[in-house]
Amino acid sequence: MNRLSGKKALLTGSARGIGKAFAQAYIREGATVCIADINLDAAQRTAMELGESAIAVHMDVTDQNSIDSAVNETIQKLGCIDVLINNAALFTAAPIVEIKREDYEKVFAVNFSGTLFTLQAVAKHMIDRGEGGKIINMASQAGRRGEALVAVYCATKAAIISLTQSAGMDLIKHRINVNAISPGVVDGEHWDGVDAFFAKYENKVAGQKKKEVGEGVPFGRMGLAEDLTGMAIFLASKEADYVVAQTYNVDGGQWMS
Ligand SMILES: NC(=O)c1ccc[n+]([C@@H]2O[C@H](COP(=O)([O-])OP(=O)(O)OC[C@H]3O[C@@H](n4cnc5c(N)ncnc54)[C@H](O)[C@@H]3O)[C@@H](O)[C@H]2O)c1
Repeated sequence: MNRLSGKKALLTGSARGIGKAFAQAYIREGATVCIADINLDAAQRTAMELGESAIAVHMDVTDQNSIDSAVNETIQKLGCIDVLINNAALFTAAPIVEIKREDYEKVFAVNFSGTLFTLQAVAKHMIDRGEGGKIINMASQAGRRGEALVAVYCATKAAIISLTQSAGMDLIKHRINVNAISPGVVDGEHWDGVDAFFAKYENKVAGQKKKEVGEGVPFGRMGLAEDLTGMAIFLASKEADYVVAQTYNVDGGQWMS
């Protein structure tokens, strides 16, 4: 199948994990991808592994100059950007009385401001080009409700769902579709870090939280990055032209609205 034939996609935070799986899936569907990550070495290794349909650029989504130069470099090397996935994010956890201002600012800077200002930079390009585009933001089940130890991360993801609605409504007149994917719990290096936070604050042994959350998913296991690729392909494709400002749960049945 070639549902993204000829499309050029920029994926932030795609050196590993879900972003890397999206990049792989997009290439299989005929796209060319830019692996943009704060970790340039890892981005280059990933691009090399994915082959000639992938390039790598350095991008720190908390730095406006870095956003602008990464977007410009992508346009210069690929010719344009048809699809953006705002995927880069950090996780943090702490009881309310232990939240540190620096930690709050860092996580909001990556997860929310990074998404907003990357979306803005790419939307300007898409508007100038006049051929529309697809923008996909990564939300989370954490954005659907609060969690005792996860106030800051949950708030960034709730903000992403809200931004997806506002940007979706503003940009559709330019035929730019803004939508989001809300995963549940997806196994990988990210969740190894989440597990470590819970080991600390809930006094669990390493791996215990992962086991518990997996058993709690109606589907019967944690998600895999590959479980999300179908939605990422659909939202980037022509089939999603009439889909505007939505956030889709792809979470094995964990959340229902
Ligand atoms: N894994 C899960 O269970 C899960 C669940 C719900 C939502 N999500 C969301 O899905 C997305 C991908 O998650 P993942 O599990 O693949 O995460 P991950 O931690 O494995 O990958 C994140 C990537 O972002 C990069 N990054 C970090 N800071 C950056 C910055 N300032 N600029 C550019 N890149 C930066 C990292 O280098 C890394 O390659 C995130 O938005 C995450 O919040 C993940």
